[in-house]
Amino acid sequence: MNYTAAVITMSDKGAQGLRKDTSGPAICEMLRADGWEVVYTTVIPDDFETIRQELIHCSDELGVCLVATTGGTGFSKRDVTPEATRAVIERETPGIPEAMRAKSLQITPRGCLSREAAGIRGDTLMLNCPGSEKAARECLGAVLPALRHGVEILRGWSSDCGEHHHHDGMEEKHNG
Ligand code: MTE
Repeated sequence: MNYTAAVITMSDKGAQGLRKDTSGPAICEMLRADGWEVVYTTVIPDDFETIRQELIHCSDELGVCLVATTGGTGFSKRDVTPEATRAVIERETPGIPEAMRAKSLQITPRGCLSREAAGIRGDTLMLNCPGSEKAARECLGAVLPALRHGVEILRGWSSDCGEHHHHDGMEEKHNG
């Protein structure tokens, strides 16, 4: 089974070459370390229609298991990544942004300002992370131990939620 992923950075400045994107590469590095094959990366402006089309391209044409985005989740008028994500997903996966914000709030009260969404389109799981490298690492780190299992269930590679907990850190926990 190939755990394929696409990483999309939303940044007006990044897309114009005015700012170096470090968040996208940080997400790629974390995914690779967790056994994912990053097959596609791009930096696009904070434009609803551009984001919507890019998400559809990754799911319907590239057919990746996972699309992780960074940026455009805040309160600026140009931040529309969650809206574009909700426009293309068929089923929401609320536990993913809930876990991200729960983790973020342990780190900073500003964690509640990230409006990230996540959901499923066809065979593809899509999730938003905030724009800063630090915040993106913290949010992806909060859900990464569960993502491969989610994809396995989505794709029918596994139907057993009890098997193989090697990557979720749970087997270290013992009672007593
Ligand atoms: N989440 C975590 N884990 N760590 C952070 O430092 N920064 C917050 C929030 N979530 C932060 C975080 C801040 S200050 C903002 S404005 C939003 O994410 C911004 O999201 P954006 O960069 O996607 O617009």
